[in-house]
This record gives sequence, structure tokens and C-alpha cells, in this order.
Amino acid sequence: MQPTRILTGITTSGTPHLGNYVGAIRPAIASSRAEGAESFFFLADYHALIKVQDPARVQRSTLEIAASWLACGLQPEDVWFYRQSDIPETTELTWLLTCVAGKGILNRAHAYKAAVDRNREAGEDDDAAVTAGLFMYPVLMAADILLFNAHKVPVGRDQIQHIEMARDFGQRFNHLYGEHFVLPEVVIEEQVATLPGLDGRKMSKSYDNTIPLFAPREELRKLIYSIVTDSSAPGEPKDADASNVFQLYRAFASVEETARMREAFSAGIAWGEAKQALFERIDAEVSPLRERYESLMSRPAEIERILRDGAARLREQHSIPTLRRLRDAVGLRDLSTAAVNRETDAPRPKAAPPVFKQYREADGRFYFKLVDGDRVLLQSIGFASPKEAGQCIGELKRAGHASGDDRIVLAEGATEADATAAFAAMAEAEAARAAQKADKA
Ligand code: TRP
Repeated sequence: MQPTRILTGITTSGTPHLGNYVGAIRPAIASSRAEGAESFFFLADYHALIKVQDPARVQRSTLEIAASWLACGLQPEDVWFYRQSDIPETTELTWLLTCVAGKGILNRAHAYKAAVDRNREAGEDDDAAVTAGLFMYPVLMAADILLFNAHKVPVGRDQIQHIEMARDFGQRFNHLYGEHFVLPEVVIEEQVATLPGLDGRKMSKSYDNTIPLFAPREELRKLIYSIVTDSSAPGEPKDADASNVFQLYRAFASVEETARMREAFSAGIAWGEAKQALFERIDAEVSPLRERYESLMSRPAEIERILRDGAARLREQHSIPTLRRLRDAVGLRDLSTAAVNRETDAPRPKAAPPVFKQYREADGRFYFKLVDGDRVLLQSIGFASPKEAGQCIGELKRAGHASGDDRIVLAEGATEADATAAFAAMAEAEAARAAQKADKA
């Protein structure tokens, strides 16, 4: 049976925190071990550039995230683990998709719309400070997914719309060029907890309420003790379901441990005691990982090697051959394979060359214009006689251009380049006529 390809990207714009661990890293690594799964995990560093324009931070975050996934048990021999920018086919496919993606769809992307809304509220121009990168974000993400024909894409709720867009772009491409892409499905891990942060809101970098996954032990303790609680005293019964301390505990504890903690809450456990238990529970899970993390962080060249190796194998086996097919599909082809004599490809009969037309106006003067099909390119001044007009035409033809001649002006809508091309076409037609005459003679 064909394996199910599961793919997800992690934007390299921050330091992994407990929310990332519980919500993404831990479930992803667990699911990568399932039978019949082929997993693709990558560091979305091209995406990071949309948000972060601090090079040192992009590099630091890329290293930290790679080390975190490896420390948490990702096996680079068993899954595809790579850095987005090591796969140049990603950007190449981004362009192919850009050319089928509806701009109107991108206008409706949440992240872009939110930026526009903020600008309107502030009385700014709609697109003030909005980069084309932010606008194109969903196309780049679609390329990540479609490039490897992923079946399933596990993401947070905020990313659902992006997967729908990837399906839309893939479908348009397939419609135009044949069935090249699998249309991906979004996977929302319902049973995975959303962790509360220090202030009780969702743990998120944007709220600045996170606990770093690999904070040193003492810092971890301090942060856990700083979690906001209500002011109920020791001995007062506490509502476990309303408590962030309990929510965090549950994300790390077994079913039995969780049930015991629930009882302790009803029995009025002191906040200090509950926090100490939470600290010990988290530290028990994290400390062996932290040791591996620190060891990996001290060997960045080893991480670099792992990522490069993953990308090199993946390119060879997947993305290079895929792009070769896609380039062919859209017509970016080896010219030597062109079918030259087919009806439809046969050269069209040449259009008649541009010509000078002479005429007389009501003012009694003689004029001419240069006409290409139904377009007027040049217009002369009025001459006293048709002979003078004819002489001027002769001079222009011999010169092969009309620039700098103040007896002639460009007609409305025509450009200097149009006129130059017209002279060239007339010269070519003239040469062809001369050659034909010589043949006959
Ligand atoms: N945009 C995703 C996020 O911020 C990261 C990402 C980039 C991604 N490319 C992807 C996720 C492809 C899944 C598939 O979370």
C-alpha cells in the first residue's frame, strides 16, 4: 500500500515553548512512528523572512527549532527532515502556482485582511507596510505542500484557510495542465490540548506569555511559580477546570496522576504546592530532552549536516524530478523537441508590412502618415506639394528611422519603439521583394 504522506512546516521565527511541544512537536513525532506514514517535517525559513528581518534571529531560531525536534526524538533516518530554503524547487513551484492563483483569493487571506483592517482603523492606506511577501504567503505554503504531494497536513486552526487555498491552487493547476497534484487535507488534532500561558490566555509568542521548552531548570521553576492564579487561600477548594495550573499539569501527566491532582484541587491544595507538583512533572519529562538539546546546540555543524543531507536526498528522489515534469507540463521545454510542422504550430501568413499613405487635407496642403494595419504610427506636417511629401518619405525610408526629424511626429498612442519596429518591418519586406525579383531574373 502507498504510504500516507504527512507534511508540516515550522516557521523559524522564535524559540520553541511548551505550547509548541504539546501542540505540535510531541504529537507530530508520535504520529511519524505510525505504520504506513511517510512524514515530512521542515523548517519554514522562507516564511520566517516575512515576519523577521533580523538575520541573526532567523539563524538562531532555525538552529533552536532543529535542535528541539531532534532532541524530542525525531529520527532523521525515518522521516524527511529538512530546511525549506535548501529546496530551491520550492521557490520555482511558487512561481508556477503564482501564475494560476487567483489574486482575489489572496485578498481574502486572514493574515493579509487583518493587516488591511488595522491600516483602515489607523486611517492609513490599505496596504501601508504590507509586503508582497505577506500577500504571497499562502502561495509559498501551497508550494511546500503540493511539491511533495502531501495527503495530510497537521496544523493549528489558524492555518486551515491556507490548506484550502493550497487545494484551490492545486486544482486550478491540474485543470489547466493535467493531474499533477494531490489535493491535501487538513488535520486538526482535536484531542491535543491548547496550553494556557503564564497569564491564562493561549500560550503564544504574540502574547509574550510563554514558557520556553528548554529553559534551564531554575528558570523553568521561576516561570511556573509566576503563573497567574486566583487569590484563594490554602485549604479553600479550587475549581480544577478553571485553573491554568491544572490545564498545564494535565498536558504532561498520566490519567491517574491527573485524577489525583483533581482531587487535591477539591481538597484545597495550596497554589504553591500545586505549582511545585507542576514544575516537577514538567521537569521530569523535559530534563532528559533538555540534556540532548544542550548537547545538540553545542554541535551546530552536526545539525547543519543532518539538514543538508535530508534536503539532498529529498531533492534527488522527489523535488528535482517533480519540477522536471511540471516544467514540461507548462511548456518550459527543451526546444529541440518542438513539433515544428503541425498545422496549429505552422507559421501564420505574414501580415502586410507598414506603409506610408499620402493624402491632401482641406487646408490644401499635402500630408502623409505611416500606417501599420489599422494603427497610425507617424504623422507628417503639411507640405506645399505632393512631390515634397514624397521626397520626405524617400529620405525617411533611406534613413530607416524618423527620430530627430521635425517634419514628423509620433501619432497618439504610438511609441518610438513602434516606429522603429515598423521601419525594420518595411526594410525586411523590401529586402524580400528584392530577393524575389533577383530570383525571377
Ligand atoms: N504557516 C505555517 C505556520 O505558521 C508554517 C508552514 C509553512 C506550514 N509551510 C507549511 C505548515 C506547510 C504546514 C504545511 O504554522
